Amino acid sequence: MNTIVVGLGERSYPIWIGERLLANIGSALEDVDFPNKVAVITNPTVGDLYCEQVVEALVVSGRKVNVIQIPDGEEYKTIETLESIYDVLIERHFDRYCGILALGGGVIGDMAGFAAATFLRGIPFVQIPTTLLAQVDSSVGGKTGVNHPQGKNLIGAFYQPKHVHIDAMVLETLPKREYVSGLAEVIKYGIIHDSEFFAWLEDHREVLADRSTEALTYAVMRSCQIKANVVENDEKEQGVRVLLNLGHTFGHAVETLAGYGVIKHGEAVAIGMVMAARISAELKLCSAEDVARIVDLLDFFGLPVVPLDFTVSEYLTVMQRDKKVKDGVLRVVLNHGIGSAELHQVKDLDKYLAELLEQPIH
Ligand code: NAD
Ligand code: GLY
Repeated sequence: MNTIVVGLGERSYPIWIGERLLANIGSALEDVDFPNKVAVITNPTVGDLYCEQVVEALVVSGRKVNVIQIPDGEEYKTIETLESIYDVLIERHFDRYCGILALGGGVIGDMAGFAAATFLRGIPFVQIPTTLLAQVDSSVGGKTGVNHPQGKNLIGAFYQPKHVHIDAMVLETLPKREYVSGLAEVIKYGIIHDSEFFAWLEDHREVLADRSTEALTYAVMRSCQIKANVVENDEKEQGVRVLLNLGHTFGHAVETLAGYGVIKHGEAVAIGMVMAARISAELKLCSAEDVARIVDLLDFFGLPVVPLDFTVSEYLTVMQRDKKVKDGVLRVVLNHGIGSAELHQVKDLDKYLAELLEQPIH
């Protein structure tokens, strides 16, 4: 088992990464002094696969366990679903000395985390991420929340978990489309922060596509380490953390315009990263060869690389609600070559968008 610590003073927490770790959840909770009465929040898909194992391990370690199932899907990442979680917590007499475990992908993690952040003004929670995307991104760093009909993740809170428990084996049951969607976020770390990691991903593309446990464990660890370092330096996204949003401004627009759940988050990020890279190349921040490497790697895994066919004004309207908008000015993260990125206010963004949409294939 490997441990990475997210160092945030009294809010620091360990990430455990290993194989067949679900059975060890009891000792992990003991290590972080987690409350005895817990609610496991999951959905029917993940619940059928892993809830029994998790509940058994919790009961064996002497915990009192309640399971709360919510419907599966991004379209249920709403205030209404959140209310249904509060209803059960209240019905089952959860108090401030209880805790929440999020067992599932990013949708469960974001919602369970926000429930924990807000119920009784905050109770402790732990992330047990079961998708690749959740293991490398959403379970680490404390962003929690729900969608609003007008935009992704518009309602939420920064609220750190007490522990993140990553079992590589759960990825075996992940549908291919979900697995590949997670690879988009892994590739993102290479583009924004680590050219060597990007080259490693290019070299290991075949074994990663085959879900080799060894390659995957390294990719998850490197991704979590990069994310932990960024979050340690900028927990509330006042500076460098914004770079983790490469591809997200365009990507969130794609997700919102297509309708929640139609395009996977990672797929939208892949499209968004290509849009960003092509604008970076136009602005001479990266070369055409860099764009080609990014497109090739995403495309190799079967990720979409072509923007969805909405109008410039549709894109811009949704993008104006992005959380990076400051004083009404939209800013986007652009890659500088491969391995570095910056936040930019792009003059004539509408012109660049129009060009991308007119010539969607790079
Ligand atoms: P998801 O949670 O919808 O999971 C994808 C699908 O896989 C679901 O149907 C789920 O039930 C199923 N599933 C999960 N684990 C499985 C397993 N081991 N085996 C079989 N099926 C399994 O999607 P996601 O891609 O994990 O997360 C996307 C969400 O994460 C979005 O809402 C996005 O906004 C959010 N997100 C948040 C952050 C953050 O920092 N908080 C970062 C990135 C993304
Ligand atoms: N997923 C971006 C962040 O956590 O900041």
